[in-house]
Amino acid sequence: MAEKYYITTAIDYVNGLPHLGHAYEKVLTDVLARYHRRHGQRVFFLTGLDEHGIKVQQSAQKQGRDPQEFCDAMAANFENLYRKLNVSFDDFVRTTQPRHKQVVQTCLQKLFDAGEIYQGVYKGFYSPRQEQFLTEKDRAADGRFPEIFGEVIELQEDVYYFKLAKHQAWLVGHLQQNPDWIFPSFRAKEVLGALEQPIPDLCISRPRARLAWGVPLPFDAEQVTYVWFDALLSYISVIGYDGVTVSDWWPGINVIGKDILVPAHAIYWPIMLRALGLPLPKLLLVHGWWTQNKEKMSKSTGNSVDPLTLIETYGVDAFRYFVMREMAVGYDADFSSAQFHLRYQSELGNTLGNLVNRAVSMIARYRGGVIPAAGDAALTVSEENLRCEVGGAVKAFCDNMDKIQVHIALMELWKGIIRVNQYADENAPWQLAKHSADAGRLDVVLAEMAAAIYLLAGEIGCILPATAENILSQLGHLPPLPVTENPAWPSIPAGTKVGKPEPLFPRIELPVSE
Ligand code: ME8
Ligand code: MG
Repeated sequence: MAEKYYITTAIDYVNGLPHLGHAYEKVLTDVLARYHRRHGQRVFFLTGLDEHGIKVQQSAQKQGRDPQEFCDAMAANFENLYRKLNVSFDDFVRTTQPRHKQVVQTCLQKLFDAGEIYQGVYKGFYSPRQEQFLTEKDRAADGRFPEIFGEVIELQEDVYYFKLAKHQAWLVGHLQQNPDWIFPSFRAKEVLGALEQPIPDLCISRPRARLAWGVPLPFDAEQVTYVWFDALLSYISVIGYDGVTVSDWWPGINVIGKDILVPAHAIYWPIMLRALGLPLPKLLLVHGWWTQNKEKMSKSTGNSVDPLTLIETYGVDAFRYFVMREMAVGYDADFSSAQFHLRYQSELGNTLGNLVNRAVSMIARYRGGVIPAAGDAALTVSEENLRCEVGGAVKAFCDNMDKIQVHIALMELWKGIIRVNQYADENAPWQLAKHSADAGRLDVVLAEMAAAIYLLAGEIGCILPATAENILSQLGHLPPLPVTENPAWPSIPAGTKVGKPEPLFPRIELPVSE
């Protein structure tokens, strides 16, 4: 049976609108899901929303709305954006759904019964904005709490704790023995660094009086659970966990941004799973930040780029291409609209768009729209080299996708596209068309271009799904090529008639304000 591939995104807080950073993460996960689906794995792709917590309660209050109503309205923005972006998720979890809350309560009860959760008192400084208690380490050099925490208040309350400390040595051992558990692996060092100090037990509940918007503890109705405890469990709640058996989709891959690795995903999450007796995620795939003028793009600072504006101007696939090509997975990237425009015009318009357009147009003009069938006997060294290099580009794409080097994978794939354009330039079909003696040669060159595009379109579809479909339809409604380890040069059925040539990436004038 086909291998299983379960992949999740972080679930976004609904207290603000999604920005480029959120869209990036969903597209990255989608590209991996599509790639693995295409290459024969059975994929389950989960995304969704984190709807509990003080920030949501406060945002709803500010608008004078019931929190659930607020969440429903916000959820529509995220779901619409992700659908628009062609994010092929199999399920969309919202932490306010009963199916999720039930599992959270099951887990809490199980951990309480096992003695992993105990009652205590918490006294300390608290930042409502960050929804976290602060420690001495959070103070700036001048002794004050930094601006990002907003107003800091002193609190003492009865709460429940989850035992983290007793698992610390085990977690350090796990990280040391599994250096590839976190991608990129340099991030594991940050986690080990954080684990050099003793980690205190985690306060996992809040009095309902202060925070009503959360999952109630099953063993103390006056308390609701801490939002991270709730959110992390979304990775197993929707696929199915009854307190004993977890769905066999688990363990999966958790795709997250670097700001939520320590402590949530690299400390709380593995310890929660261990305490529940469940396997750890296969991989924590940690991406970097989109910045603007080198500052993290964020909902609260107002420096975020709206993906919808880019999609409206350039199209969905241009957006997907740009974010995948521009950012090296794991590192930060600074957003520049000039760079977006440049990649659109050159790599999409002049390279991919131009190739498809010239091939389809010439087949229409010189061969009445029918893709010529050229026998293998007619092939020259020019075709041999082309096939070898285009095949090599496809292979290099796959090798890099397997290593999650998506931007390099795209560079390799584009070498193939550039190579076919070069083949056309070298063989100049527009010259061959002038002499009837060259008719056989013209057949070969046009057939070869069509086949090369057909082959490349398969992998292009992992990144640019709508464009790949458009290419296949312009090539005469060809079915997607099946994937094999070493793809053979495709053959196109005799008599296939191309569709109307349409530019894939029409020229766009830069807005004057730039
Ligand atoms: O952290 N660049 O939600 P969130 C790249 N609810 N990625 C970014 C980014 C940026 N500028 N800003 C945010 C949460 N992200 C929790 C997650 S998971 C069980 C709970 C990423 O809406 C961020 O790193 O603040 C995270 O992976 C995702 O967007 C959601 O962020
Ligand atoms: Mg955040």
